[in-house]
Amino acid sequence: MDPAALIPVADTIPVHWLWFQVLLTVTFLLHVVAMNIMVGTSIIALVTHVRSEDAPVSLCRDIAKKIPFFIAFAVNFGVAPLLFVQVLYGHFMYTSSVLMATFWLSIIGLLIIAYGCTYFFDFKYDDLLGNRALVLSIPVVIFLTIGFLFSNNFTLMLVPETWVGYFNNNDGTLLNLAEPSLIPRYLHMMVSAVAVGGLAIALYYDFIQRRGQQIPEGRIQLGCHWFSIATGINFIIGFLFLESLPAAVKDVSTGAGLFFAISLFGGIVSGGFSIVLGFVYKVRQCAMAALLAIFFMVLTREAVRVGYLKPYFTVTDLQVMPQYSPMIIFFIVFAGGIWFIWYMLKLAFQVGEVE
Ligand code: HEM
Repeated sequence: MDPAALIPVADTIPVHWLWFQVLLTVTFLLHVVAMNIMVGTSIIALVTHVRSEDAPVSLCRDIAKKIPFFIAFAVNFGVAPLLFVQVLYGHFMYTSSVLMATFWLSIIGLLIIAYGCTYFFDFKYDDLLGNRALVLSIPVVIFLTIGFLFSNNFTLMLVPETWVGYFNNNDGTLLNLAEPSLIPRYLHMMVSAVAVGGLAIALYYDFIQRRGQQIPEGRIQLGCHWFSIATGINFIIGFLFLESLPAAVKDVSTGAGLFFAISLFGGIVSGGFSIVLGFVYKVRQCAMAALLAIFFMVLTREAVRVGYLKPYFTVTDLQVMPQYSPMIIFFIVFAGGIWFIWYMLKLAFQVGEVE
């Protein structure tokens, strides 16, 4: 069967595709940063508790207070790219979501359980004694599972050839396990979360220290070590990921392949700088380099998507039926929302909620 026959007809779009592409890239960057902090700090707190057995650790108590905030940010910053990716790639993404619908819909329930556990971990931290690691392991396992389901869906949408699997499995439990890039891609995402979690810890204590408060010794260094070591490991995983990608995606004679190579190079250089800056504890400079590396990696990931889908579709195929007012309203609401979040954070810092 010709897999192209399984691809639904694309909807029209109201403005030029580039608007949606830029919005997708920017909002996905926000999602990835928040998600990385959420997943990474939770893993670091879990590892610390497993190592310290039942002793309360002030680092973990500090992290416990922050995780629910970052779940909220990760989820809310996830909604926007979900909308934009559906506008540009809905006919691929809806299909893959339906093929794995049982798992895909379970994310909502899983997320609610994880959210509840992180609040429980925060509110009952002192009473939990030897059960801290056990309680925290629930959201950590859930985050890792959700990440895996996301990697499955966002690769399944790229390979319509595998969609024929539906005719043998119509339970909504089709995963993309035969895809060679799946595991390296997923590991690359999760190890980067550990790195960014470490960096977030270092940045947080650096911020507190610059405000003139005492911080426990070695916290900034600890965060930087987590960052640099995890990023170093991610270089190896990154090369395995690169190896696993189809040759057509990496073909620099095509526009997408060239874009892929340039953004990958930018990511490798800035990622390399960030490791060095982390090892010498230049926290803020390290954060700038890491943010730049994540930005380049988000672009690289976009080029990978374009390369995979090239035989079937490019965004320039989408037909524009001009209608500008929804976009103008979106920008007004988006700017208002960002201002509102900034204002809430300012208030929270003033009353010491976020310390
Ligand atoms: C809180 C737990 C979550 C985790 C651990 C998580 C993790 C991830 C990961 C690992 C990816 C990259 C997948 C890949 O490309 O291989 C991803 C992508 C994405 N996530 Fe999340 N996510 C979470 C929640 C959400 C939620 C609740 C939403 C939406 C409401 C969301 C929206 C997205 C979107 C739209 C993308 C892909 C964007 C694109 O392809 O351009 N995420 N997420």
